[in-house]
Amino acid sequence: MTKMISLLDVEISDKKVLIRQDLNVPIKDGFIESEARIKACLPTIEYAVARGAKVILMSHLGRPKEGVSIEDQKEFSLRPVAKRLAELTSLKVRLESNYLNGCNFHNEDILLLENVRINTGETNNDERLARKLAALCDIFVMDAFATAHRAHASTQGVAKYSPMACAGPLLLKELRALDKVFSSPKRPVLAIVGGSKVSTKLQILTSLSQKVDLMVVGGGIANTFLAAAGKKVGNSLYESKMIDIAKKIIDYGRIILPTDVVVSSKIDEAAEWKVKEVGAVSPEDRILDIGPLSISRNRELVSDAKTIVWNGPLGVFEIPQFSAGTRELGKSIKDSDAFSVAGGGDTIAAIEMSGVIDGISYISTGGGAFLEVLEGKTLPGVSALLEK
Ligand code: 3PG
Repeated sequence: MTKMISLLDVEISDKKVLIRQDLNVPIKDGFIESEARIKACLPTIEYAVARGAKVILMSHLGRPKEGVSIEDQKEFSLRPVAKRLAELTSLKVRLESNYLNGCNFHNEDILLLENVRINTGETNNDERLARKLAALCDIFVMDAFATAHRAHASTQGVAKYSPMACAGPLLLKELRALDKVFSSPKRPVLAIVGGSKVSTKLQILTSLSQKVDLMVVGGGIANTFLAAAGKKVGNSLYESKMIDIAKKIIDYGRIILPTDVVVSSKIDEAAEWKVKEVGAVSPEDRILDIGPLSISRNRELVSDAKTIVWNGPLGVFEIPQFSAGTRELGKSIKDSDAFSVAGGGDTIAAIEMSGVIDGISYISTGGGAFLEVLEGKTLPGVSALLEK
């Protein structure tokens, strides 16, 4: 980390500065459900604009199809983010869709490039795409901590081919904060991991489960563990290919599975639901939250912990009848004296919804990225800067 050049040490006046941010915020019906990630990017943007840089921002949003135009997948457009950025900064922001062969400033303060993940070659870090992105700037700034665990063209490749590359203030702040917390954490350390990105997170959990004292699992992740433990998960989201890995992780003896769950056959606000013991899930059931017994047990575990690490909701928290597991977890953390770190787009949205933001000691913009830092990995977006 110390070997990286910081944006703050670079002369940027009049330079085209391309900043990779993580503006991947939850959006529903065009409405931004949590703007925490946008707000976290503002100091970097405002710093660069104030120093006279020509600021070009790039980010992904969700997981769109590569090579398909944004017109054909409008739900992945960064347009709502561009609008909100302009409101929050009082700057003129232009959303630019045609940028791969160059883009020019007219009378705007900032250009925001349309979702970088629609570009063919983004996720496999294609060299041609990385060179095109690099050609847009004099200086590339990697500030997207929350996407630094992805070796993509806009996070890793671009750093290699840009005339100069440096680390942004948000990236450095996040790395320093997590390093400080986890170099010698107070024990017991309790991890709580939920959410729906099952396959990528299960890999991470293999090493993380050996570093923490206990790990509560919820959300889609828990279903894969329940299936690995021989329980029926009905029609729930789970990854059959990951069962063997899940079994190995269970064998370390630190995983805490839900004992009761909230099930329904539908996922919408009108859905009827039931609480069932994990052994009683039927083929048409979908597990959408943890049940009251698991909520009470989580409260006890949280109150015994000295350090808490939380990533991912424990159920479909956006829908009221499936939100109790996540909301109650937030409240228990707020009530505990432990040092708590939480991170990830959905997790932040859930924390905001539960009104417990003041009860979390440190909130990271990263989800998967933050878990990989805890694992002790150097993130690809960081190694690209170290190698430069
Ligand atoms: C996140 O939300 O964790 C980051 O924005 C990365 O998104 P991804 O998991 O789709 O790469």
